[in-house]
Amino acid sequence: MIFKRIKKNWKVPKGQPLTELDKKVLSYQNRGCLVPANDIILNEYQIDGIRKSGVINTGVLDMVTREIHAGMSTAALDKLVYEYTCDHGAIPADLGYGGFPKSCCISINDVVCHGVPSDNEYIEDGDIVNVDVSTILNGYYSDASRMFMIGDVAPNARRLVEVTKECLKVGMEAAKPWGFVGDIGHAIEKHAKKNGYSVVREYCGHGVGLEFHLDPEVCHFGHKGTGMLLVPGMCFTIEPMINEGGPDICDDAEDETGWVVLTEDGSLSAQWEHTFLMTEKGLEILTY
Ligand code: MF3
Ligand code: CO
Repeated sequence: MIFKRIKKNWKVPKGQPLTELDKKVLSYQNRGCLVPANDIILNEYQIDGIRKSGVINTGVLDMVTREIHAGMSTAALDKLVYEYTCDHGAIPADLGYGGFPKSCCISINDVVCHGVPSDNEYIEDGDIVNVDVSTILNGYYSDASRMFMIGDVAPNARRLVEVTKECLKVGMEAAKPWGFVGDIGHAIEKHAKKNGYSVVREYCGHGVGLEFHLDPEVCHFGHKGTGMLLVPGMCFTIEPMINEGGPDICDDAEDETGWVVLTEDGSLSAQWEHTFLMTEKGLEILTY
């Protein structure tokens, strides 16, 4: 028989009594559950830092909501994101991340994610557009994205955008303190499939806050009761990418940056994202 070895992430503090939190997390760990490492349970000062970063990030997306229109180049919108963020004393987290050349990701129609803003790409009437922005303020990261429907959008595209928003909502509602990350993915996958859509499997939500991408990995599919334990004080994103057709993705052969991800079958894709804090009472949105 093969036993799957689960990493013992939670360390017992040396030379001091166990807190109630230590005892509770250790009881899950001793039962073989995947638990977070101590350092992804954030203290109130860290949470306050992420919350303030989230306020700027929401301001960026509100500005995008006001400014986005047909006929605008994606580079022009990216420039507004850069300027707004810097004017508010923050830094766009995307800029230079892994070599990413711009300040945000703008993903149109069949672009699943990581669309690179360009002077040669224009937002058009009928497009569905994801704008994904991430902010660093005083070292603290926040991350969120919204969909925009430009002008006269076809009913099927509109439905995909709306159902994808519902997928984020059902995922949020499934996330309970002392539940599991898999509860979130299960709820999202179920809602997407019920509506005839598929879930992208290669990109997941992630811990965020002290860095851009941390544990836990928040898959948007899966089974209840699996994945990492959800402990109050954890901060992470949920960001389902939902395809109208099949789940498979591919590179864009025409993209010189190597970042752009497309649906393999050319069907539409949508995504919504928020940064969340898990509390004793449930999820709190930090990017509203
Ligand atoms: N904002 C994306 C996320 O939701 C990450 C973008 S990384 C970049 O995790 F380099 F493409 F900007
Ligand atoms: Co993210």
